[in-house]
Amino acid sequence: MSSIIGQPISRVDGVLKVTGGARYSSDIPLANLAHAVVLHSTIAKGRITQINTTAAEQAPGVLGIVTHLNAPKLHSISFAQPGQPPSAVGRSLPILQDLVIHFSGQQIGVVIAETLEQAEYAATLVQVTYAEESPITNLHTVLEQAFYPDKTDALGQPLETKRGDLETGWAAADVQIDQSYTTSTNNHNPLAPFASIAVWEGEKLTVYDASQWVQNVRLVLAATLGIAISNVRVVSQFVGGAFGCGLRAWPHVTLAAIAARHVHRAVKLVLTRQQMYTFVGYRPQTVQHLRLGATRDGKLTAIVHDNLSPTSPFDEFVESTTNNSRVLYACPNVATTHRLVRVNAGTPTYMRAPGESVGTFALESAMDELAYALELDPIELRLRNYAETNPETGLPWSSKSLRQCYQIGAERFGWSNRDQKPHSMRRGNTLIGLGVASAMYPVYRLPASAMARIAVDGSVLVQSSVTDISPGTYTVMTQVAAETLGLPISQVRFELGDTDMPEAPLQGGSMAMASVGSAVQAAALALRGKILGLAIADEHSPLQGVNKEDVIAMEGRLCLQHDHSIGETYSEILMRNQMTQLEAQSSSMPGEERQQYSMYSFGAQFAQVHIDIDLGMMRVARFLGVYGAGRIINAKTARSQMIGGIIGGVGQALEEETVMDETNGRIINANFGEYHVPVQADIGKLEHIFVDEHDPHVNPLGVKGIGELGLVGVAAAIANAVYHATGKRVRNLPITLDKVL
Ligand code: MOS
Repeated sequence: MSSIIGQPISRVDGVLKVTGGARYSSDIPLANLAHAVVLHSTIAKGRITQINTTAAEQAPGVLGIVTHLNAPKLHSISFAQPGQPPSAVGRSLPILQDLVIHFSGQQIGVVIAETLEQAEYAATLVQVTYAEESPITNLHTVLEQAFYPDKTDALGQPLETKRGDLETGWAAADVQIDQSYTTSTNNHNPLAPFASIAVWEGEKLTVYDASQWVQNVRLVLAATLGIAISNVRVVSQFVGGAFGCGLRAWPHVTLAAIAARHVHRAVKLVLTRQQMYTFVGYRPQTVQHLRLGATRDGKLTAIVHDNLSPTSPFDEFVESTTNNSRVLYACPNVATTHRLVRVNAGTPTYMRAPGESVGTFALESAMDELAYALELDPIELRLRNYAETNPETGLPWSSKSLRQCYQIGAERFGWSNRDQKPHSMRRGNTLIGLGVASAMYPVYRLPASAMARIAVDGSVLVQSSVTDISPGTYTVMTQVAAETLGLPISQVRFELGDTDMPEAPLQGGSMAMASVGSAVQAAALALRGKILGLAIADEHSPLQGVNKEDVIAMEGRLCLQHDHSIGETYSEILMRNQMTQLEAQSSSMPGEERQQYSMYSFGAQFAQVHIDIDLGMMRVARFLGVYGAGRIINAKTARSQMIGGIIGGVGQALEEETVMDETNGRIINANFGEYHVPVQADIGKLEHIFVDEHDPHVNPLGVKGIGELGLVGVAAAIANAVYHATGKRVRNLPITLDKVL
């Protein structure tokens, strides 16, 4: 039996996507659709003194304008609210409820018109006056106001930790590295700007949304609007990219619902590219202080990692950067802290490998500095501190292939050809540098449910309310169901992204496959078991009375493992039982294994950079990532995840930087022209390798999740390569050419 799981199957939704048949949230063809344009503040701090909408209301096509003057009462929500999901909800600022402005770009109203152009024009006629105050736009100017946030982040990672005894650690250290590393504000730039369409039918609200978590949007809308959860349906069948910005239900979603109710029409609200920089969160800048102590032979004796990052005046979001500093290396004495500073900006949020990617930049840069201080090969230094068990909890790893990742990577990358001396490898006018860094990301898993239904023709429909922000979720879930039921891919259809479907958690934290994949497998197994039950009980079935365990599913049939000729098709069983269809629903959730094992994926990242001696121009000529990430469901979509992560890391390392004008709190480069992301010409040869890894503990599928791992460590590997090429240690991302010249 050839396995469907693992095959490099092309996306089952690929044709839909390239022919325009995939309907994103802004594409839903509804009759009588009105268009909304959001008004946002032009000051960063102060109060609205007046909003004059008279001229705008009289503009052609205008159906209504909602501001604080006529907005419905909204309810604020918080983490603590019973029934709310534990993470990502945040404490959203209730919009249009008062006159206070907290940041530039804050939503202050919505204009609804017959056409988008009419709404846009009318929005220009709205006159707003403000009493402006001086905003806080630079966290360094208010460091005395820094505070320690809650004890854990939304995913349960601790934000303040201490193990061992630091005094002992420093006393045992022959060498210390004591440095600050900073990373810049980054914005999510999915290809498709976020969009919501809201429709009311009586008390029932349906919202088509670009989301990573429809169940969460549903809860937030119900709580914010003060309506029953059962009256809200959220649909998100296709999302044109999201890297964490779709985890929360941001205020514009609520605005779409308010607008639709105000004009008694279906309303479409699409964010502008500029609004994507202020409406849906961002990866906050970080100021990280890292101190390492080690013995002469390279054993870490102490690690202290302190993080400072901004949050908004009304929410607390922590970029939890220190996770890997706690557990990546076997060091007995470790302390980590996070502090926040409130600035006049919107609330930051999760962005691909939140915390881990920027935190690992600091840790793995510092490890490189330590390797040079000790005159040790950077890989050798890492091997000398290899953690055989989780150094914080003492738990065994469910599996760990990091040693193989270093070894295979070093061999494939030609690491032994590297001359450790900085500024030593050169070809003509080009300096060449090779750098390495480790990667590590937790294996999360949450409860999930799925439904599987077989029709008499043997075709199967599987549903779960997870979303597909584009990693290939439609495809991999189809593979799991098809393999479990012994059906070809073409016989299985997977549907997702609708709160009417069985409950599923977020597509985020690299946990969709582990959580929902396990539920899809469970539902397919339950369906198979039901059908088999019919056959075993049926005197007319060749499978009557057989042992369940002796039966396998293949080629659309259930048959005996030791004699494939004894069996029958699903259709035959259903027909004989006069059934047109049969359905099973199942849930899957983590159990005690999570208390018995420490679960992480690992990797080794290798970068080769080329730097023009005269101009300082940098290019990542070659990059290799080697990963231990458990079972890989689809080699093709997995490759896209890994190289996508690396490309994101090239952006983080060399290009991406959101710049705020500190005088007025506005983002200067809220566009694709001036916020640089890597383009094809920026990317050299990318390679990835998955180490063969079987993990029986993580979940029934043995998958670890790969959405974020590929990004972790990339910026550090590049920064380390830049140092190797130039002898200049750049500790501030992005590494632009002015910093290396
Ligand atoms: Mo990811 S930041 O959990 O979308």
